[in-house]
Amino acid sequence: MNDFSALLEAVYTRGERFGVDRPLAANPLTAVAPGVRPNSIAIEGGAFGDEGKGRVVDEVCALLIGRGGRGVVYRWNGGANAGHTVVVEGRRLALHQLPSGVLFPGATVVLGKGMVIHPGDVLAEIQEVRGLLGEVPARLVIDEMAVLSLDTHRALEGALRQWAEGGRGSTGRGISPAYADVLLRHPVRVRDLAADDWRDRLGRHYDLYAALVRGLDANMAKMEVPRLNSEPVAVGSRFVFLDRLGAQRSILLPYVGNAYDFIREQWADPAVPFIFEGAQGVGLDPRYGVYPDVTSSDPTIGGILPSTEGLVHPAQIAVRMATIKATYTSSVGRRRLPTAMDAALADRIREDANEYGATTRRPRDIAYIDLPCLRFFGQVSGANYLVLTHLDIAYPDTPIRVCTHYTDAAGRRVGYRPDQLYLNGVQPAYIELPSWDGAAIQGVTRIADLPPAALQYIAFLSRALEMTPLFGTTGPQRDAIVSWLPGAA
Ligand code: IMP
Repeated sequence: MNDFSALLEAVYTRGERFGVDRPLAANPLTAVAPGVRPNSIAIEGGAFGDEGKGRVVDEVCALLIGRGGRGVVYRWNGGANAGHTVVVEGRRLALHQLPSGVLFPGATVVLGKGMVIHPGDVLAEIQEVRGLLGEVPARLVIDEMAVLSLDTHRALEGALRQWAEGGRGSTGRGISPAYADVLLRHPVRVRDLAADDWRDRLGRHYDLYAALVRGLDANMAKMEVPRLNSEPVAVGSRFVFLDRLGAQRSILLPYVGNAYDFIREQWADPAVPFIFEGAQGVGLDPRYGVYPDVTSSDPTIGGILPSTEGLVHPAQIAVRMATIKATYTSSVGRRRLPTAMDAALADRIREDANEYGATTRRPRDIAYIDLPCLRFFGQVSGANYLVLTHLDIAYPDTPIRVCTHYTDAAGRRVGYRPDQLYLNGVQPAYIELPSWDGAAIQGVTRIADLPPAALQYIAFLSRALEMTPLFGTTGPQRDAIVSWLPGAA
């Protein structure tokens, strides 16, 4: 295990900056290696979700699509469990299933096969956008192959809560039962809802779930399930369930499409910008996260391959960005991170960075930067560029503590593994790095306006994670963003 002593010496003794003190010499979106598709960028959560990806996607859409251009925004995972807020015409708009690109008139926004779609909630989102802007600015395509996540799934999740630990702690949006349907080989897809005999198909699905829920000692028809923008509703009888779906179906049908053919055509034209937008973060991946605080989809950039049925290989994507908070990590759930932060500093950060769940207001856990963990996430996701959010959360009186490696009970240096039992037995080893006045850089947009200690830290962190910094955010406002793309100041 690397203790990064050589890198620390290079940055903090010899003054090496690895080029982070100026924009990149070449544009990684256009100056690409053979086999790499120009104009393609993927944005994943590089930690445990809630890193502030939405802002960055918005910025990337503005950059690549803008007001007059065209482009594709493709969401590859998750469903109504995700969420971020954008400000449109001075009003806050919460997006869950719709990707951020939906606000760009030239964008075609695809809800990909790797997603799970709740028709009622996606319709509520569409109506909210329409209410605000009169129409949905982007062209919206809901892949007919995406899996449905319905009130039945929310009811099963609710019933499971009484029985098993795995059922607890979810967002309650029926995400895991919908993905489980695929493994059990009985998913209902968007195309089942679009089919002429949809009432039969969805009716059989209702019967199956009513039986499953009955087996858990609950009555599905009477169970109340959460809803976007309204109070919980009872699932209702088979008839009520199908009628409600029928009304939603007729409004959603025009948005249902064959994403496969569309992506194949557009991907073949390198002039069309492609923005892949992930939900959640690598640390919530069911294989790479700490069980049971994991979701069920594939939040890593690797999830793009199965979602596009192999059309887009991550290695072909020019810029694969992991988004992390620059000076700390946050997480929700019961997982105990090895680098849990001292309470006083954690409280200060929680207040300054508003680290409370967007919908639940649950206070998030705050931890020191954990290089073994973040390097592991980088390795399993294949990200090559870095987005550092919250650069303004730094205090001149408090050095930034970073975990370089762990030791086990026998004193051996060991790495990260996504296993709580294992992590409970490791001891983090820390270094302390010079900090800066975060409040003084609020809203900064130029690399040149970042203080030397911030540039030193960015040089160290990006090299330690083996990724190149591409964006950094310096405050909650939309344009508080620093870019390392050529042409940026
Ligand atoms: P599910 O995705 O609803 O199945 O929830 C499983 C776990 O993932 C829970 O611990 C959730 O809190 C967490 N989770 C799901 N989506 C997000 C997200 O967007 N941000 C942070 N945590 C999430």
